Amino acid sequence: MDRRPLIAGNWKMHTTAQEAQQLAASVVKAANSVPDRDVMIAPPYTALAAVSATLAGTGVILGAQNVHWEEQGAFTGEISAPMLKELGCGMAIIGHSERRHVFGETDGMINKRIKGAMQFGLIPVFCIGETLEQREAEQTMQVLEAQVRSGLDAVDLTDGSRIVVAYEPVWAIGTGKTASESQAQEAHGFIRNLLENIYEKNIAAQIRILYGGSVKPENVDILMQQNDIDGALVGGAALKAEMFERIICFH
Ligand code: PGA
Repeated sequence: MDRRPLIAGNWKMHTTAQEAQQLAASVVKAANSVPDRDVMIAPPYTALAAVSATLAGTGVILGAQNVHWEEQGAFTGEISAPMLKELGCGMAIIGHSERRHVFGETDGMINKRIKGAMQFGLIPVFCIGETLEQREAEQTMQVLEAQVRSGLDAVDLTDGSRIVVAYEPVWAIGTGKTASESQAQEAHGFIRNLLENIYEKNIAAQIRILYGGSVKPENVDILMQQNDIDGALVGGAALKAEMFERIICFH
C-alpha cells in the first residue's frame, strides 16, 4: 500500500502574521519541487488568514494547532472546525503533548475534538506518545495503546486518508533527542497493528503515521525510509526556512 508522505510543520506559539507569510512562501517553493508528497503547515490562529492567502492556489495544506468539538458556543478561547474551514484549513493537530501536559487535555477531550473535526471534514493529526518515565518503565506500548483506543473511541472510519496519526515520544520533543529509526519503526509498527485491530486491514493500511520529535535535516532521510513511517511532524526545525525546505525534500 502506497501512502503519500506528509511533512507537517507545527509552528506552535511563534511568528507574527507577517513573519508567517514569509515562512509560508519558502514552504511553497520547496513543496513545488517535490510534487510526490503532501506538505502541511500549522501557524498560530492569528496568522491563519494571512498564511491562507499565501497558500491559495498552491497544494500546501493549511493546518490549525487545535480545534473544539462544538460548532459554536460559550467556549472562551476556543475555535471551531467550521471557523477553521472558512479560513481554508484542511487539517488540525489534536492531542499534541503540550496540550496534554501543559494544558491538561484528557483522552476524552481529545476524542471529542477528533470527532468534531471529522464531522466538519477537517483531517485530525492525532498525536500520541509516551513520556521518558513511561519508556523507562517499559510501558511505551501500553501507553500508546490506551491513547489510540480512547482517542479513536467510536470514531468510524471508512477511508483511512481521513485521519493522520502522529507518534511523538514526549522525551524527544524540543529536546534534540530523536528516537532511533528502529525505536520509531517499532512504535509505528505497533500502532499500525493496533489500527488493524480497530479498523479493517485495508483502512489501517491507508492511515498515515507521522513521526515527531526533533526531526532535522540530518535524521529525516533515515526515518522516512522505515516501513511504517509515512511522514514527519516538525516543530523547531519548521521555523527555519532552510531546514524545513531540506526536510520537505527528504529522500
Ligand atoms: P520538535 O517538535 O520538532 O521541536 O521536537 C515537534 C512537535 O512538537 O510536534
